[in-house]
Amino acid sequence: MTVETMAADASPEAADRTSEGPFVGRADAVAALRASLVEGRGAWVSGRAGVGKTRLVREVLWQGDGPERFVISATCSPGDGCPLAALRRAVSVDGPPVPDLREATVVASLTQLAAGRRAVLWLDDAHWLDAASRRALPRLVHAAGVRLVLSARDLGAPQDALVRQLELRGIWLRPLEAQEAATLMGEGAESALAWIPEQERGNPFSLGLYRRTFLEHGVLVRGEGRLSVDETAGRRLELPPHADALVSVRLGAMPEEVRRLLGSIALVGRPVSVELMTYLEAPVPVGQIETSLAQAEATGWVRQTAQGEWRFTHERLREVAAATHARLAEGVHRRTAAYLDHLPTLPRHLIFERAWHHVRGWSERRVQVFRACLDAAKVGLDAGLIDAVRPLLQVAEQTGALHEVTPVERRAFHRCKDGLRSRLA
Ligand SMILES: Nc1ncnc2c1ncn2[C@@H]1O[C@H](COP(=O)(O)OP(=O)(O)OP(=O)(O)O)[C@@H](O)[C@H]1O
Ligand SMILES: [Mg+2]
Repeated sequence: MTVETMAADASPEAADRTSEGPFVGRADAVAALRASLVEGRGAWVSGRAGVGKTRLVREVLWQGDGPERFVISATCSPGDGCPLAALRRAVSVDGPPVPDLREATVVASLTQLAAGRRAVLWLDDAHWLDAASRRALPRLVHAAGVRLVLSARDLGAPQDALVRQLELRGIWLRPLEAQEAATLMGEGAESALAWIPEQERGNPFSLGLYRRTFLEHGVLVRGEGRLSVDETAGRRLELPPHADALVSVRLGAMPEEVRRLLGSIALVGRPVSVELMTYLEAPVPVGQIETSLAQAEATGWVRQTAQGEWRFTHERLREVAAATHARLAEGVHRRTAAYLDHLPTLPRHLIFERAWHHVRGWSERRVQVFRACLDAAKVGLDAGLIDAVRPLLQVAEQTGALHEVTPVERRAFHRCKDGLRSRLA
């Protein structure tokens, strides 16, 4: 096995590929994405939630008969509190992210990784991409000749500017055709499509969800290598009006402790270690957490990353779990911040994550919020991550804690402000 295939196959995206069913349709989008890698600088793939953006890119980048490319990839997360988080993760396929936070180092690491390899950098859920990453990407594309693929439901204005600057090819995914949807449901199961709300029938994520529900409720029955439909069971089954509501119902059917754990993982907003879960769920013992995780994994809610942390199998599941537990958000962030406060040593990127959680777990503990933001601002200034420093200093100021902290901290705050001003000048 070459280094290239080893690295590519070790990624979570490659791992996902092995557990999925057949890929249907999308001939035009496949051709367009391939062409953008051969003739252009890459593409951005967009379309509604669950329509198949991630799957399309995975199929093209890992397909044997596609253009041979070395794939460097990462999924951006809402809980990426540290600038350049996704790019730093992309550098190390199955190791810890590069420790250095400076843009130049991250770009140099990616350039080195890509050198002489016809590389493509794929960033999924790119609407979460931070400003420092957006600035770094053109350098990678121009200097290192890396092709870029961004995928997201809607990129948003800052990412749109990047797409225009790099002249990435836009690929918009439409819902599947009726025949393709029928193929996905499986032979013999076509007539069950009629029970799926119309607006969900062309959406592969929704189709998978309804199909699983139908199988569980005996609407679809396996037998002799094909499926059949039990019309009576179909008429009896009451379905919510759309897929997110069905996810919510399915979540509600999980045992209370599993549901709660899923809520915490969803709210942290990035992969979570068992250690952090134990802290969040205290006094629930670790054995109980592991049992809940096993249950959540067996029912398709979460999976373990190469680094041993846990993440949702699909962003849409995470979103529903987060929305259902929104009332717990402040507490989860506050406890995550406290967990990071208590770690004996904090790597520099976690100083950012800690500030991120302190801000979202905003409470009467204004002095802690101030200190966390100031610490991160100092690190950010040192690493030249100016875009991240400004909001941190603004939040620190808004806490109103400036007169409650020590004179040393006050001076440090003003030094940071001066430092930021001189960098911006
Ligand atoms: N063309 C396809 N053929 C078969 N299955 C598909 C196809 N497209 C998507 N799927 C399946 O549908 C599910 C949702 O697809 P995917 O995760 O790619 O959606 P997405 O557009 O990236 O969603 P999100 O906006 O939430 O990120 C996955 O299980 C995927 O394997
Ligand atoms: Mg996706």
